[in-house]
Amino acid sequence: MQTIIEPFRIKSVEPLRHTTREEREQYLEKAGYNLFLLKAEDILIDLLTDSGTSAMSTEQWAAMMRGDESYAGSRSFFRLKKVVQQLTGFQHVIPAHQGRAAERILFTVMCKPGMTVPNNTHFDTTRANIEFTGARAVDLPLPAAADTQARLDFKGDIDTQALERLIEGAGADLIPLVMVTVTNNSGGGQPVSMHNLEMVRDITYRLGIPFYLDACRFAENAWFIQQRERGYQDWSPRQIAQKMFSMADGCTFSAKKDAFANIGGLLCTNDDRLAEQEKNLLILTEGFPTYGGLAGRDLEAIASGLEEVLEPDYLRYRIASTGYLGRHIADHGVPIVEPPGGHAIYIDAGRMLPHIPRNQFPGQALAVELYRHAAIRSVEIGSVMFGENARHELLRLAIPRRVYTQSHIDYVVEAILEVNERKQKIRGFEIVEQPRFLRHFSARFRPIR
Ligand code: F0G
Repeated sequence: MQTIIEPFRIKSVEPLRHTTREEREQYLEKAGYNLFLLKAEDILIDLLTDSGTSAMSTEQWAAMMRGDESYAGSRSFFRLKKVVQQLTGFQHVIPAHQGRAAERILFTVMCKPGMTVPNNTHFDTTRANIEFTGARAVDLPLPAAADTQARLDFKGDIDTQALERLIEGAGADLIPLVMVTVTNNSGGGQPVSMHNLEMVRDITYRLGIPFYLDACRFAENAWFIQQRERGYQDWSPRQIAQKMFSMADGCTFSAKKDAFANIGGLLCTNDDRLAEQEKNLLILTEGFPTYGGLAGRDLEAIASGLEEVLEPDYLRYRIASTGYLGRHIADHGVPIVEPPGGHAIYIDAGRMLPHIPRNQFPGQALAVELYRHAAIRSVEIGSVMFGENARHELLRLAIPRRVYTQSHIDYVVEAILEVNERKQKIRGFEIVEQPRFLRHFSARFRPIR
């Protein structure tokens, strides 16, 4: 059979609410044209993020009932620790309420003003947490990845030559760690090759710099390696993931992505001294090291999710369904970041709407229009999110795991193609109000007439 199906059936459903175009116009105005400020109930298909939005399995729900809510020494923690150790090989497994909490603790312990942390592309919370310590966050994507249309197998790779130059220029002492984000979310959800991870491991090992994975979408990355990288065809996704983790000295992880959990994060390391400092900080804001800001049932959901996500049937469906959305819009003339990534499709709004200059936020304009037209929520990843550091003006359509069916995606395809038909009419925006950090969450906009 050629048809790739959703490898699950639906046991519990959540109704969707339709709205009219007039209603949506009012909601937009009230929200200052910032889709983060809409009410979720006013959205039909929510592609804002794949984070914390997964549908959980029967196994996960069952495990949650077994959650041990003891304050210290919870059985659920030891189950999670074992699952994570078997997957990653890391000694210390520190739970946190989500990925950014793990980041904050890691960078607070490791970074000082004057230091620099390179990454293929920092996610916005990673960058903000590094900058908050006074250190500098530097993105080193491949030069070829600057072309959104270039179809590279591993477009998420870090530029290892640039990495070596950066370390040489700054001095290894001022590089507290090197990070690689798998898959490279802000760079288009593109995978990183095992070869690239090996090169980073060699460079960092030689210079005595710790190497960390931002491992949010490690399983999707493992699937791409199996499909695309020579020598891994006969490896299971689990074996590949284990090898990926074995390259690194530690990781941060948001369980809201590839662990199918609605909340949770992890900070892992092999360094005893560091783990001690991290646990001390953890207690200040997250909690005791055997729960770290989570309920016992959350720890169970994460443990079960980490076991499920590496199933080949799931990953085949997951990557195929993201590609389905990408191909159906790209083959009809909508420029996307090629090739389709793992968790999301990124429309190159700068290319699609050349009549809207960068400082009028083409990605935001497209996000607003897609909501107005079809009640679909997406997110700008461009100058609103990254300010001057933005490399592209993208619109991300992130696909929640196991949530939407093919007909939902067909609806999204239809809506995007209709918006594309009359794209000349779309106008840009100006910002009328903004906070200092992470402005995309709460900035308010005004349409330019
Ligand atoms: N790193 C990456 C690569 C991410 O994509 C995210 C979150 C985080 C770290 C932070 O994890 O949300 O659990 O604190 N990304 C979400 C997104 C929010 O929509 O891409 P968190």
